[in-house]
Amino acid sequence: MDLQLKGKNVVITASTDGIGYAAARKFLEEGACVLINGRNEPKAKERKEALEQNFGKNRVYLYSGDITIDETILGFRKYAGEIFDHIDCLVANVGSGKPVSQDHLNMEAWKRSFEINLFSAVRLIQVFDNLWKDRTGGSIITVSSLAAYNRISAPYAYAAAKQGISVLSKYLSDDYAVRKIRVNSVIPGNVLYNGGRWEELLAQDEAGIRNYIETSVPLKRFAAPEEIANGIAFLASDCASFITGATLLIDGGQSRTII
Ligand SMILES: NC(=O)c1ccc[n+]([C@@H]2O[C@H](COP(=O)([O-])OP(=O)(O)OC[C@H]3O[C@@H](n4cnc5c(N)ncnc54)[C@H](OP(=O)(O)O)[C@@H]3O)[C@@H](O)[C@H]2O)c1
Repeated sequence: MDLQLKGKNVVITASTDGIGYAAARKFLEEGACVLINGRNEPKAKERKEALEQNFGKNRVYLYSGDITIDETILGFRKYAGEIFDHIDCLVANVGSGKPVSQDHLNMEAWKRSFEINLFSAVRLIQVFDNLWKDRTGGSIITVSSLAAYNRISAPYAYAAAKQGISVLSKYLSDDYAVRKIRVNSVIPGNVLYNGGRWEELLAQDEAGIRNYIETSVPLKRFAAPEEIANGIAFLASDCASFITGATLLIDGGQSRTII
């Protein structure tokens, strides 16, 4: 299927590893230009070079920095405006479900989780608002979590913040429709990649985690980042031209909610 993403300008936060990096690769495979982001500058430069080796030098751009910090978001927007005269797709991917405290009611953990998982997306979308091409369309994609829809073993603050992401996407989809910008959200299942959270958990309790996946995921395996990236690219493409305000579950059947 030709996703017709050739020449599109795509901005993805938290994209030097995991789902974000797989999404960057997918958009590049489809002919788009990408602006990637990550905190660790040496790693980010390595990732940019790897992408350039595969896809050429003039389609990959990088802005390093912590996207939960306002100055970084402003700098990211400024740089995006220098390299792109408009954007066609904005992927708000940054997030973390790693527990900050064992106490689910720890206020600092709630504040930090909301900063990472929700406020960064609100601010990102706000700051990029004037970089869309007037009335010719585009696509915003947010990344939520199964924890927002099913009671799984996750920090409460993470689940609540990710529910906020879904609410944000749904409500914004109305406002942006007039400009032909579609707003959708993906819900990844358990995504395993080298250096990711699930690899860390497997190292702590391989048998327990394997059993959890076997018993709670009908397809009985982890997702690969590329499987989430495919959903993101689809939502960004004209193949999804009548899809807005939607939530795409990519979870191997794990969700027990009927939506
Ligand atoms: N993995 C899963 O099973 C899963 C399941 C459901 C939902 N999700 C959601 O999917 C999204 C991506 O998750 P992931 O597991 O693929 O990746 P991740 O481990 O959350 O993040 C990896 C990437 O994000 C960058 N990053 C992390 N914090 C950042 C920050 N504050 N500012 C800028 N970049 C940052 C990392 O760069 P540095 O290393 O340089 O910081 C790296 O490029 C998140 O929103 C997550 O909540 C993931």
